[in-house]
Amino acid sequence: MSTENEYITLIYNDQSFKLPLLTGSEGEKSIDISNLRSETGLITLDKGYANTGSCTSSITFMDGEKGILRYRGIPVEQLAEQATFKETAYLLINGRLPNKEELSDFSVLLNDHSLVHEDMQLFYQNFPRTSHPMGILSSMVNALKSFYPVLQTVEEEINITVTRLLAKIRTMAAMSYKISRGHKVVYPRPDLSYCANFLNMMFENPVKPYQMRTEVVNALRVFWILHADHEQNCSTTTVRVVGSGRVNLYAAISAGISALWGPLHGGANQAVIKMLTDIMQDNGDIHKSIKRAKDKNDSFRLMGFGHRVYKTYDPRAIIMKKMCDNLLDKLHITDPLLDLAKKLEEVALKDDYFVEHNLYPNVDFYSGIVLRAIGIPTNMFTVMFAISRLPGWIAQWKESIDDPNWKICRPRQLFIGHKKRDFIPIDKR
Ligand code: CMC
Repeated sequence: MSTENEYITLIYNDQSFKLPLLTGSEGEKSIDISNLRSETGLITLDKGYANTGSCTSSITFMDGEKGILRYRGIPVEQLAEQATFKETAYLLINGRLPNKEELSDFSVLLNDHSLVHEDMQLFYQNFPRTSHPMGILSSMVNALKSFYPVLQTVEEEINITVTRLLAKIRTMAAMSYKISRGHKVVYPRPDLSYCANFLNMMFENPVKPYQMRTEVVNALRVFWILHADHEQNCSTTTVRVVGSGRVNLYAAISAGISALWGPLHGGANQAVIKMLTDIMQDNGDIHKSIKRAKDKNDSFRLMGFGHRVYKTYDPRAIIMKKMCDNLLDKLHITDPLLDLAKKLEEVALKDDYFVEHNLYPNVDFYSGIVLRAIGIPTNMFTVMFAISRLPGWIAQWKESIDDPNWKICRPRQLFIGHKKRDFIPIDKR
């Protein structure tokens, strides 16, 4: 980050104030308002933080106008093509790709920590069968803190907690699925890759052994890599905000999982499938949905469309759509929802409203169809997103606690309520 002694001059009450202009490594500019209030008495108002940079970060770069996404400088397209999910996680958390030895050590550690304390199964068994797996995952991640003792040094505590989370989240997610079906839990296997291990824990069954297909393992790898980080989105910001109070990492990640659950964020792929199914049941009337999405008096939105940052095609959606086509083709699956999704996309992209509002498909538009093809039940979609976003959350949390200038997150507000008024006793109201 460079300052180059550039300033923005703010004139207020006939006085001028110099606000430093900062430049990021890709040339983007930012006004540093850290001293605005102490110097002028003013605060800024920016609902939903749409124009607010809450931190400096060297993890993920996005250019919403050009449709660029890079993790630690590496384009997501290259990672989706060539990297494993484990390498991507290592890259995000440590800032560089691992060499062979480091990757092998990392794999051993993930295997060593992949089992979940047997007592945790009692908790799982006692959630009502109808519980949403995201609620269960968020609770169980928070509960991990009670099951694993505090370690000797801060460094050891952080490293082992990070490894535990990355290793156990797959086991915990698969456990919740198995238990929800009333099936026996399948334990992790050290001989399988990160993605294959998860699929095995989800679908292995003594009556009908799971046939592991490389296309499916690959689809899961790509799905997880594409979702691994996305800079300061709602759940990541939650992890940073909660973490800024210096809570333990489990609690911060648990909060991130809860934030991700929402249909405007990680829950969107589940909402896309629901929307497509509803359209299908309504005789495939795409135009009715487009009309509703444009109606300001109707809260309906085209799920899987639009993005706070991308004002062009989400680069992840391009990869996801291609992968979705290939996967269904290789598995000889015909999913009527895919045909419907493609038609809906075609119509929306030609519609003036969607063009003028820069609304393009985002990653979630096709990801639900990929997950269906893999065999993931719809209520587990957001859990799949949570597993993939974990390395990003950890990397962002680590970056925030390592920042010597980090402060507790505590925004200001513009108060618009009552001025001072007196309390009136109940019998006089
Ligand atoms: N359908 C119809 N209109 C839309 C949509 C949509 N999906 N998205 C945005 N708009 C309109 C919105 O009505 C508004 O119109 P106007 O300016 O005329 O009032 C304008 O576009 C800007 O919308 P906004 O809500 O101010 O934009 P935002 O940046 O606050 O919201 C969003 C971004 C992703 C929440 C929103 O586009 C949306 O709700 N999309 C559907 C949900 C979805 O697919 N979410 C997944 C996001 S990708 C996964 C992730 O990274 O979390």
